[in-house]
Amino acid sequence: MERKYPNLCKPIKIGNVTYRNRMFSAPMGGTDITNDGCIGPKSTAFYELRAKGGAAAVTVSECMVHPETDGSHAYHLDTTILNSLAAATYTADAIRRHGAMPSLELSHSGMYAGTYMTDKSRQHSMNQWGPSDCVRPDGVPVKALTKEMLADIVQSYGKVAGLAKRAGFEMLMIHGGHGWLLNQFFSPYFNKRTDEYGGSLENRCRLAIGVLKAVREAVGPGFPIEFRLSGSEFIEGGYDLEGGVAIAKQIEPYIDLLHVSAGTYQRGFGDTHPSMFKPHGCNVYLAEEIKKHVSVPVATIGGLGSPEQMEEIIAGGKADIVYMARALLADPFLPRKVTENRDQEIVKCLRCFTCMAERAATSTRRCTVNPLIGREMEGCEIAPAPVKKKVLVAGGGPGGLYAAYTAARRGHQVILCEKENALGGILKSEQALPFKHEMYELAGTYELLARKAGVEIRLNTEVTKEYAEKEQADALIIAVGSKPLVPPIPGLDGPNVVIVNNYYLEKEKVSDDVVVFGGGLAGCECAIHLGMEGKKVHLVEMRDVLAPDANVRHRPLLLKEIDKYVTVHTGYRGLKVTEEGIICADKDGQEHLVPGTSVICALGQRSRTDVVDELRDAAPYVAVIGDAAKVSTITNAVYWGYHAALDI
Ligand SMILES: Cc1cc2nc3c(=O)[nH]c(=O)nc-3n(C[C@H](O)[C@H](O)[C@H](O)COP(=O)(O)O)c2cc1C
Repeated sequence: MERKYPNLCKPIKIGNVTYRNRMFSAPMGGTDITNDGCIGPKSTAFYELRAKGGAAAVTVSECMVHPETDGSHAYHLDTTILNSLAAATYTADAIRRHGAMPSLELSHSGMYAGTYMTDKSRQHSMNQWGPSDCVRPDGVPVKALTKEMLADIVQSYGKVAGLAKRAGFEMLMIHGGHGWLLNQFFSPYFNKRTDEYGGSLENRCRLAIGVLKAVREAVGPGFPIEFRLSGSEFIEGGYDLEGGVAIAKQIEPYIDLLHVSAGTYQRGFGDTHPSMFKPHGCNVYLAEEIKKHVSVPVATIGGLGSPEQMEEIIAGGKADIVYMARALLADPFLPRKVTENRDQEIVKCLRCFTCMAERAATSTRRCTVNPLIGREMEGCEIAPAPVKKKVLVAGGGPGGLYAAYTAARRGHQVILCEKENALGGILKSEQALPFKHEMYELAGTYELLARKAGVEIRLNTEVTKEYAEKEQADALIIAVGSKPLVPPIPGLDGPNVVIVNNYYLEKEKVSDDVVVFGGGLAGCECAIHLGMEGKKVHLVEMRDVLAPDANVRHRPLLLKEIDKYVTVHTGYRGLKVTEEGIICADKDGQEHLVPGTSVICALGQRSRTDVVDELRDAAPYVAVIGDAAKVSTITNAVYWGYHAALDI
C-alpha cells in the first residue's frame, strides 16, 4: 500500500529501540494520582488510548524523582510505597501491548514545586528549593539547593530511572525545559549561583549532565534517553535560541534524542502551549536550528496536528520526530488515521484549552471535541445496540452531529434534520475568524464521520411535531440550539447593526470603526478579529470583567490580544444605538458616546425552548441536548449528544 504521508509513517531506531512511526505522544499529566503517589487506573486508561490510536511512543507525564524537595506532580516511583511499582508496571504494559513504546518523564519542579497537586499538609511544611535564594513572583520564598542536596537529587534520578526500566518503560524523557529545575539551572534568569553550578555555560549544564550520567548508569547502554529542552526561554534575562543551541551541544553526548519545546510554564504558558492566536508549528524553527548543530535525532512540538505540515517537517529535515499533546486528546487515533490514509477523518484540536482549564478548575480532564477524554475507563469501543431503533435528530450543530454519529455507530437507523441549508449550527459563524478555523471545520469532520457511519442527512428540513410523528421514530434527540439575545434597546434593530452570529454573512456591511456590544467570549473574539483586520474597535461591556465565560487558560491569552487590538469600556450600560455609535451610561449614570459607525451585537444566546416544548412528546424516547437544554459550551453539547445516543 502506498502511504500518503511516507515520512511520518517511517519507523525510526533510537538506541536499541525501533519506533513504528514518527508521531509521538507528548507528556500529559494524569488526573487520578493516588494519595500515596501512584498512577491511578484512570490515568493508565488515558495513556493506553493514545497507544491504541497508533502513536509510536506514549510519554507518561512527570514522575517526581525527589519528593523531599519536590511536590508538584505528586507521584513517585518508590518501592517503599505499596503499589507504586505495580501501578507503573500496569501503565507501561497498557501502552506496550498496543505496539507503542512506553516512556516515562522524570521531572523536578525546583522553585516552582508545590504549586499544584501537592497534598495540602505537605505543601505547608515544604520549602521551595531552586538554584538560588529568591522570592517568587507570587511571594513564596525559595532557598538555594545545597551541593549535598544536588548530589542526592542526581542519585534519585538514577534510582527512579532504574525502577522505571524494571516497570517496563522502554524509554525515558528527562524534563529539562518549561522552567522546571534543570531549566532553572540552565537559565541565567533563574540561576545566580557562584559555585560550580552557576555562571558559565558548563557550570549551568552541570546538574543536567550529572542527572543524565546517573540515568545512563541505571538503564545501561542502548536504552533511549530523551531530553526535553526549551529551545528558547523567551524571557528577558533568560537564554535565547543561541543559548538553547549551546546547551544542546553540551548535553548531546549524554542523550539519544533531543526534544525541543519552548518557553517556561510560569511566564510563557502561551509559548509552551501555542494558543489559537499563534500559527501551528510556531516553535518548529527552534528544533530546526538546533538540529543543525547536533547529530542526535531531534523532536519538535507545539500546535502540531496537521499531517501535511508534520510530513513536511520530517521530509524537509527540520526534525526527525513530531510530538503532539492536545491533538491526541482531540483525536487519539490521529496516527492510525494518518497511517491508513484516512486523514480526512481526523478530528482536529481547537486549541481552546478546555483540557488544561478543566484540570485547573476541577482536577478532571475533558476535551471539547472528544467526549471520551477523562472517561477512558468507560471504554472507547461503541457497543452495538441490542435492539436497532429509528432515531431522529433535530439540529445539525456539533451536539446533534455527534449524537447522530454515535447512534449510527451503535447500529441504529439515524436521520438528522437541519432546518438551514448547511450543517454546523453556531459553528458556522466561526468561519469568519481565521484563528477559530478548526472550530468551523469541526462540523465538516463530524458530518463526514456521521455520513460514513450511515447517517442520512436532510438539509432545509425543520423537525416539527407533525414531521417527527410522521417519521415514527423510536427516539428523538432535540439539538435545536439557541438563538441570539437581542434586547429591546433603541436602535439595536438598525441597519448598522450586525448580530455576531451573522457576521460571517454580513462582513461587508461592517465599517472600519466598530463598536462590539457585549464583552462575553463571543464578543471578545470577534473584537480581536476585527482588530486584527486593521479596524478601529471599541468594546462595551456592562460588567466589570471581560469574558467571564472563557476558561481559565484561554482567558488570560484572550485578554492579551484584547489589549493589543481593542479599546475597552467596562461598567458601561448601552442605552441607545445611533449612527455614530452606542450611547452608554457609566456607573454614575453619566452618558458617553462610544464611537463607531457599525455595531456588532454580542449580548448572548437563549435556548430555543419553544421548539423543545413543541417536540417533547414527539417520540417515545426524547433527549434534549446542548444549547437547546441550557446555553453552554460546545464541550457540553458534544458530551450530552454522545450520551443521549448511548442511552437509546
Ligand atoms: C492536558 C495537558 C497536560 C500536560 N501535562 C504535561 C506534563 O505533565 N509534563 C510536560 O512536560 N508537559 C505537559 N504538557 C505539555 C505538552 O507536553 C506539550 O508540550 C504542549 O501541550 C504543547 O504541545 P501541543 O501543542 O501538541 O499541545 C501538557 C499539555 C496538556 C495539553
